[in-house]
Amino acid sequence: MRILVITGAGVSAESGIPTFRGQDGYWRNLDPATLATPEAFARDPELVWQWYRERRERIRAAEPNAAHQAITRLSILAPAFLLVTQNVDDLHARAGIAKANIAQIHGDIFVTRCSQCGEEDQEQANKEELPRCAACGAMMRPGVVWFGEQLDSAKIDMVERFLAGGPCDLVIVTGTTATFGYIIDWAVRGAAGRGDLIEVNPEETALSPFATKTWREPAAAALPRLVAALACGDVSPL
Ligand code: OAD
Repeated sequence: MRILVITGAGVSAESGIPTFRGQDGYWRNLDPATLATPEAFARDPELVWQWYRERRERIRAAEPNAAHQAITRLSILAPAFLLVTQNVDDLHARAGIAKANIAQIHGDIFVTRCSQCGEEDQEQANKEELPRCAACGAMMRPGVVWFGEQLDSAKIDMVERFLAGGPCDLVIVTGTTATFGYIIDWAVRGAAGRGDLIEVNPEETALSPFATKTWREPAAAALPRLVAALACGDVSPL
């Protein structure tokens, strides 16, 4: 059985991490959509770093919730499994999902890398001043994908390899507004007109018209029940 799960900020909401487009997503009255850009970093790197440092702190203090745990359980139950997450936090990893089963397509907030040469440096990540690259002296930046930037081709390859392995029996998309076309594309291609495409989200999204089933509930409530039902065969396809 092949299962693809795609997650967004909503799965970490119940761990206390604000979503991007929710009411609590704003920081000091600033829209994350304008902070998470190369332009914002070029204009005011100190401000952008402060936002990321605060988010790092908040994530460190947070714990994985029942949605993360349920997805980990599913990854163990399913013989072929991939989690594609847009989340830059480490809550899926801390919930115990194997590294080989996760494509963190928007990067990792705990990585600090050089904006010029790409050198990574965990050591400088927590310094208060603006971090500089030890190799070339350029400004270091958070290792995340900003608006308007390309996705990491190695991560795309990971998703494409999984999709090339055959149609999925089940695709679950949860906690995301599915704003980016590639999210909808991967979900629809994964189900391949054959498997179920289940959306778990309290609200309607751009993906909703493509879903074969919708669970309009918070992920931490719905996913443990959904996975338990799959494990006992009450819901296809396990
Ligand atoms: P958004 O903030 O756009 O959307 C969060 C989604 O989670 C919404 O659809 C909510 O209805 C849903 N939601 C809220 N609470 C939930 C809960 N408890 N259970 C389930 N769903 C819940 O976040 P993303 O879709 O992840 O990218 O945003 C996608 C990308 O846009 C982010 O990765 C980031 C952002 O800008 C980059 O920075 C490149």
